[in-house]
Amino acid sequence: MGRHAVPEEELMEVLTADKNFNNRYQAAESLGLKYATYMQRLHKAEDRLGDISKAPDFEIPDLPSEEMDIEDLVQTVTDRYERRAKAKDAMDWIDIKVNIDGPIGILWMGDPHIDDNYCNWTRLREDIKLIQSNPAIKGASIGDVHNNWIGRLSLKCSPEQETTTAQTYSLISWLINSMDPLILIRGNHDCWTPFHKDAMTWMKQPRSITNDWQVKFRLNFSNGYSLSVDSRHDFPGHSQYNPLHAQMKASLWNSDADLYIAGHRHNWAIQKIEQRNGKVASLVRLKGYKDYDQYAVEKGFSQQKHGQSILQVIDPYSSSESKQNFFENPQEGHDFLLYLQDKYSKGQHKK
Ligand SMILES: [Fe+2]
Repeated sequence: MGRHAVPEEELMEVLTADKNFNNRYQAAESLGLKYATYMQRLHKAEDRLGDISKAPDFEIPDLPSEEMDIEDLVQTVTDRYERRAKAKDAMDWIDIKVNIDGPIGILWMGDPHIDDNYCNWTRLREDIKLIQSNPAIKGASIGDVHNNWIGRLSLKCSPEQETTTAQTYSLISWLINSMDPLILIRGNHDCWTPFHKDAMTWMKQPRSITNDWQVKFRLNFSNGYSLSVDSRHDFPGHSQYNPLHAQMKASLWNSDADLYIAGHRHNWAIQKIEQRNGKVASLVRLKGYKDYDQYAVEKGFSQQKHGQSILQVIDPYSSSESKQNFFENPQEGHDFLLYLQDKYSKGQHKK
């Protein structure tokens, strides 16, 4: 069993007595203590409280700390957590109000890898032109806007890449300013740069959503129709026989979205499935703009030529269950959108 510590005030009494009496026997007696007990407490008091009769040789002032008081720090980290949690929660299914009463298009751009020697600029510029030709079409980027090589990959790939870092940032700025973005997803290549230093973060447009890896949103139309989109750089899961295996898994297990769309793997596919609950979900993968992919050659994959981007045409007044169609040839998709826009400009959907 441990002994009780002598209270500080009793130690202080011993120090004071020791200062006031010339004789320690008398000092002990004045406190009603035996001499041995007195001496024991005196040593303890000198250890714990110092010799109050003697000024220290060097007096150091109380120096202010650079750090926050602990109470302020606890409050600050609490506020920081609550602010961050609120921001994270707000990204889980974002409600977007669509003020266009009729069909719209979203041109989904696969991995741009805009600085790559084999980025298909011909197709990229055609797509930008298409977006700019019709105000009802918005752009969306599925991620990997740039190669952004780091580490071992940088040692291998950067010397071959003709686009400099300064040119890359200029091209990203041009792309984001030209593509009328609704969604800007940061893929694994983009995420190699910390979020606050990343070009896509500081170049993002006022009315767009930028996020790491995924954006989940609902398009709410004025006629009451709502279309939900689970867009990610990629979903977990892989099958060499089915490029939409991961999206299929997501549609069965993750949520109840109308569209599951991803890029990342540099191949493309489009599929609609009717689920058990009667919902017709669409599964889409975008190939991206990086053609003549050496990685695909080295791994023995086939080189695909289409699906750099895919135009999603949504008709909120459609009589079909899914109310959306996808075109790997965006020009053809635009023809379909123009047909719908012409039809609805005559007020046929209001009948
Ligand atoms: Fe990629």
